[in-house]
Amino acid sequence: MEITFLLNGETVSVDVPLTRTVLDWLREEQGLTGTKEGCNEGDCGACTVMITDERGPRAHNACIMLMPQINGKALRTVEGLSGPNGEMHPVQHAMVEEHGSQCGFCTPGFVVSMATAQLTGETDTDRVLAGNLCRCTGYAPIVRAAEKAAHQAAPEWVKDKAVEASASPAQPISSDELAAWYLEHPEGTLVAGATDVGLWVTKQLRDLPEVAFVSGCEDMRGIDDEGDTLRIGAAVTMAELLPVLTRHHPSYAAMVRRYGSEQVRNSATIGGNIANGSPIGDNPPALIALGATLHLRRGDERRSLPIEDFFIEYGKQDRQAGEFVEAVTIPKSAEGLRCYKLSKRFDQDISAVCGCFNMTIADGTVSDARIAFGGMAGTPQLAKGAMEALIGQPWNDTTIDSACAALGNDFNPMSDMRASAAYRTEAAQGMLRRYFAESQGISIDLMEVRA
Ligand SMILES: Cc1cc2nc3c(=O)[nH]c(=O)nc-3n(C[C@H](O)[C@H](O)[C@H](O)COP(=O)(O)OP(=O)(O)OC[C@H]3O[C@@H](n4cnc5c(N)ncnc54)[C@H](O)[C@@H]3O)c2cc1C
Ligand code: FES
Ligand code: FES
Repeated sequence: MEITFLLNGETVSVDVPLTRTVLDWLREEQGLTGTKEGCNEGDCGACTVMITDERGPRAHNACIMLMPQINGKALRTVEGLSGPNGEMHPVQHAMVEEHGSQCGFCTPGFVVSMATAQLTGETDTDRVLAGNLCRCTGYAPIVRAAEKAAHQAAPEWVKDKAVEASASPAQPISSDELAAWYLEHPEGTLVAGATDVGLWVTKQLRDLPEVAFVSGCEDMRGIDDEGDTLRIGAAVTMAELLPVLTRHHPSYAAMVRRYGSEQVRNSATIGGNIANGSPIGDNPPALIALGATLHLRRGDERRSLPIEDFFIEYGKQDRQAGEFVEAVTIPKSAEGLRCYKLSKRFDQDISAVCGCFNMTIADGTVSDARIAFGGMAGTPQLAKGAMEALIGQPWNDTTIDSACAALGNDFNPMSDMRASAAYRTEAAQGMLRRYFAESQGISIDLMEVRA
């Protein structure tokens, strides 16, 4: 496929295979080896590059980004951070002054993340750097460098703009075009953020002969206020969703803030997170608890269903060949919604258990309860027994005890490297108790470890 983009300020047009990763292209075809390959699966940030389009600059992992995804955008690598006369970028200066580098392997990724944050004005260093791993320096000097650089002006030479690029059938620009392409290629693969599909390429070495990229479909990239509901386009990224959730569903937002890393959230879409049907995806339990409606499209036919009905069994969703996720609708407010993600690390970790609770308590009685879990079964699922044990009952310890017992029968979780079955069940019950405790004004600090 022919693509056009800016590479460190220069316009480039190249013919690339649809699944060539940006990292491999940079290193193998351009000799731009400053961008490193660490994990090749989105975890370490050694491959971080800056991508700018009409929505501004963002940090992305080049290892799981496919070349067509940068068509019409500006790509800036670590080699493009220094000035036209070789002068160091302020971030690079700060790293030298603060002794932020030892072996240097992680350093390009860190400085690109920091330089991007400097451009966007993001000063939450923990957040900016959570997707960059360093194995030898220790983080304190790196964080000091990031904080120092954040207060300086970003140099003009890193301020890129999107470029003109020609269209391709593999890059539909609307839901209509995507629907037509998918009807013609029902066995083809849709790529949104490629945070799953990228790994099929880099880790499973899969050939994907027919591919279409959904992120160019403008009408699937918006979040529409429909009065009492919000309609979220399938191609909306986690990063784009976050500020909207912060306004309407702060607890859901706090969970999305822990979704992967900045680089992952900048790529991953809500449609991809639903369509992949993973039992441990973070959005589905929240969406099920909210009573979300999923909108699917095949050709000119559209249908909508309660999102929990989409997940049939492990690896099987209610989606026909040529049918895709177009959007998801959620209520605009749900005061009782709380989302709890249990994982071994705060950032950049997949849930062992994710529990989302949406309850209404009226006059001391549970008038409504929707509780959904990820990590407890082959699909994200409602905890129907626990819900039954709660609805219509007084909101007290006794009810919580019987709901916890029912919850123990709702699921038969598996043991794997993330958690044992018994631990998962206890953790899910603990989340219900936590929900109750919080409703009584007892706040539970996620980061606090008690003996
Ligand atoms: C380092 C790392 C950290 C991660 N952390 C988390 C985490 O904390 N929580 C979490 O839940 N997940 C996490 N993930 C998993 C991943 O980010 C999500 O599953 C993601 O949302 C997938 O979205 P995407 O846009 O990248 O999808 P893609 O990889 O592009 O696609 C995923 C699947 O969905 C299909 N698809 C995409 N869009 C559509 C559509 N509109 N209609 C139909 N099918 C479609 C694709 O064909 C493919 O089968 C992580 C992944 C990585 C690599
Ligand atoms: S090489 Fe580790 S995130 Fe890309
Ligand atoms: S300086 Fe060696 S990995 Fe960070």
